[in-house]
Amino acid sequence: MSPDIRRVAAPIGDDGSGDLGILSSLHAACFAQAWSPEAFRVLLAMPGSLGLLGFVGDTPQGLLIARRVAEEAEILSLCVVPPMRRHGLASALLAVGIECLERAGAAKVFLEVAETNMAAQEVYRVSGFSLVGRRPDYYLLPGGCGVAALVLVRSLAGVVAARSDT
Ligand SMILES: CC(C)(COP(=O)(O)OP(=O)(O)OC[C@H]1O[C@@H](n2cnc3c(N)ncnc32)[C@H](O)[C@@H]1OP(=O)(O)O)[C@@H](O)C(=O)NCCC(=O)NCCS
Repeated sequence: MSPDIRRVAAPIGDDGSGDLGILSSLHAACFAQAWSPEAFRVLLAMPGSLGLLGFVGDTPQGLLIARRVAEEAEILSLCVVPPMRRHGLASALLAVGIECLERAGAAKVFLEVAETNMAAQEVYRVSGFSLVGRRPDYYLLPGGCGVAALVLVRSLAGVVAARSDT
């Protein structure tokens, strides 16, 4: 499989049946609390935002949403639909997303991941992220139980420096 990663342009005039609807459907297939097309519209309209869709063939199968403010960026969402997992799509989305953020001026990329989400933690670990913090009870489960968020970071300046050494 060779994924095709495409940037989602600022969706002016999208009534929810275009990319906004695709993003929302993908998100709903991956998370219990899905983000609406309108929520994606608001996110993508923010300055410094980045939206990517990951295609396999002609079908969108995953997404990445990020935002950069000055030299710091944050991955706000990353997901791949269940049937397409373990084929490298999340890694491809992360690689393209990080490159876009770095080119736009980001020196560090942060994200939060549930302490119980071992699959995502592994994806981020192999993509070069490391642990810098822990927020207790950050996520609330339906039963009222709290789950901690791990804060991960990847330093992009370090990556550029390492590349230029070789
Ligand atoms: C986490 C998620 C995005 C991973 O997507 P993916 O496309 O399957 O990830 P990749 O195929 O790029 O995986 C890259 C590497 O991460 C690790 N990895 C991925 N899923 C894993 C799992 N379930 N268990 C253990 N390691 C895993 C592996 O090392 C994998 O490489 P390999 O398949 O060659 O062994 C996907 O499982 C998902 O959408 N989960 C639900 C939403 C979510 O939790 N998003 C993250 C929120 S912070």
